[in-house]
Amino acid sequence: MKKAVVLLSVSVLLGLIVPASVLAWPWSQDMMNQPSIKPQEGKMWPFPKRSIPVMGLSTKVANREESKELTNPILASAESIKEGRTLFRVYCAACHGLSGKADSPVSGKIGAIDLTDDYVQSNLTEGWLWGTITFGSYVMPAYGVVSASTAGSNDLTVDERWHIVNYMKNGLTSETQIAYP
Ligand code: HEC
Repeated sequence: MKKAVVLLSVSVLLGLIVPASVLAWPWSQDMMNQPSIKPQEGKMWPFPKRSIPVMGLSTKVANREESKELTNPILASAESIKEGRTLFRVYCAACHGLSGKADSPVSGKIGAIDLTDDYVQSNLTEGWLWGTITFGSYVMPAYGVVSASTAGSNDLTVDERWHIVNYMKNGLTSETQIAYP
């Protein structure tokens, strides 16, 4: 009887100790140490174009200068370009011309610039264009909604402003190549 109790307690003890120590034996790592790339190991690839942090980007910008580096969150899809084109014709064409080439009757009088030239197409970032629409320029009026209570008929929503940017950068210079219904 006594022998059986001793045997039982020994096997219980072994049962507790052995599994814990097994993990510390060298071969317990064998499966892990293999020539595969583990997390955080090797080359970090740059983030794909248009990636944004999972926490999002701050869209609170106080002026055009701060908008310069904003990432355009709206893909320049055919729908977005089309929407931007409609808005451009309503809000921008009076001064910049339907073609964007500063060929409206008032373009010359107020000094509206050609939006199809290199200065706008290559030098200005999409963020800057969005900032120009939002905050205005020197002569050009602002189209950003300052607050819901002061919103006027001239105000464009955040997305509408990006649609216009997409049109300016992707549709304006290739107007004849894009077929609109
Ligand atoms: C009332 C006339 C007027 C309207 C409407 C207007 N603009 Fe302008 N815009 C101007 C004038 C004038 C300039 C050049 C002087 C200045 O920068 O203010 C200009 C300049 C710009 C510039 C160049 C900014 C820079 O950094 O030099 C961009 C881009 C632009 N406009 C886009 C637009 C877009 C997009 C719209 C429509 C949402 C629009 N404009 C509506 C008059 C206008």
